[in-house]
This record gives sequence, C-alpha cells and structure tokens, in this order.
Amino acid sequence: MRILFFGDIVGKVGRDAVHLSLPKLVKKYGVDFVIANGENASHGKGLTESNYHFLIDSGVDCVTLGNHYHSKSQIDYYIDDADYLVRPINLKNYSLGEGSAVFTVNGMDVRVTNVMGQAFMSEEVEDPIKTMEEFLEETKPCIHIVDFHADSTSEKAIFGHFFDGRVTAVLGTHTHVATNDCHILEGGTAFQSDVGMCGDPDGVIGFEKESVINRIVYGEGRFELNDKARMMINAVLIDVDELTYKATAITPIVSIVEK
Ligand SMILES: [Fe+2]
Ligand SMILES: [Fe+2]
Repeated sequence: MRILFFGDIVGKVGRDAVHLSLPKLVKKYGVDFVIANGENASHGKGLTESNYHFLIDSGVDCVTLGNHYHSKSQIDYYIDDADYLVRPINLKNYSLGEGSAVFTVNGMDVRVTNVMGQAFMSEEVEDPIKTMEEFLEETKPCIHIVDFHADSTSEKAIFGHFFDGRVTAVLGTHTHVATNDCHILEGGTAFQSDVGMCGDPDGVIGFEKESVINRIVYGEGRFELNDKARMMINAVLIDVDELTYKATAITPIVSIVEK
C-alpha cells in the first residue's frame, strides 16, 4: 500500500497547491490513501468547515491538525460530524472530535493518529509518549500513520525511536520546514522530523515575508498571506508492507506547482 502525506497546508496558496497537485500525484505514484495536515489551511491558522470540505473534495482522505486546531472556533460546531478529521489526541481540555481514526483502504484498516509535542509549544498537552503508549495498548495492530506535531527535532526523534516497530510511520509537522532525514528506522517505522509545508515558498514559513519582518523586527502589523504567491508542496510517500504493517520506503516530494 502506498500512502501520501502532505505537510501543513498554509492558506489559500497551500490549499490550491494540494488541490492542483493531488490528482496528478495519486495517478503518477499509484497512491491508495492521502493524509494532509490542515492546521493552517484557513488564513494561516485553523480550519474552517468549508476549507475542510474543500480538502476532502480535492481528494484528501484524512485531515490532521495541530496546535492551531482551535484557531477557528467554528470547529466546535462541525468536528463531531467530520469523519475525516483528526485533532491532537493528547489535548488537555478539549473532548470534541477524535484524536485517532481508522479508515478502510483496499479492505485493510489504516489508522491515523495526531499527537502534539511539548517542547517549545505554548499549548499545554498531556505527555505525548505516555498518551500514545496507553492508546496503543487499547488498539489492535494495523497500518498506523502518526502525525507528530511538534517543534523540536530531538523530541520528534525520541518519539520516533520510542515507537519504532509499533507504528508504520512517525511524520513530523508544525515547523513548516522540511528536514532532510527521511528514513526507515531499525524497527521498520518510516520517519521524518518534519515534512514541511504546502504554501508560499518565497515567504517565512508560508507567510508573506515583508509582513513577518514588519511584525517581528518593528512590532508593526500582523502576519499576512500572499494569495498570489507561487505554490509549493512538501509531502512524503510511504510504502507499506501489508503483512507486517511496517514501512518499506519513505520518499520525499518537494515541488513547485504550476498554475
Ligand atoms: Fe503549522
Ligand atoms: Fe503547528
């Protein structure tokens, strides 16, 4: 089985980048299942219901979130009906929605779980390793892709090695910058510290660069998105052995999407 995973989708440019590239990638690489991190898909923070549906209608099979899961508070009203949306499993004070979901793909179970890290994150969450460990004890083994939404590369590596051989893939999101460390860990888990983002490649982590400089250097204005920017995607393909649920290959896809 082949699974395609898109890093954080940032704003309209990110949504359009996924919308335009996804069908071509699915066809070219024979993809069976598509996951995308949507925590920044709406105006750079959070996910509106209409943008969630846009991603699903574009061919995404499961949308994951992160620390911006609640940046669009309307999520409270649709998350329980959103069958293809997974928010972080280790949130402290939020019980709506699900932190993990199982999908049927070619007659097989594929589980997707979203977990948040703790290092350098302002959102307080339950211990990610403890939460995941307890969760795995209650679930039966199957193909299992974990979106580990965290800032620190070492925290991500620790998490990956801790669950090596117990999940199919640990894919990092949140920093919006892809790391050059795609590999299969010794126990058979596909790993990348951060998949990167889908959005404007000429800005600062997807935001228009002048607005970020003005905000950070001069304390003026706010982060803006450039809806006319070029479109970039950062994604990975994961090949999975359907008998062992282990990964056999992880391949990064980084490209500019033509309009
Ligand atoms: Fe993000
Ligand atoms: Fe994030």
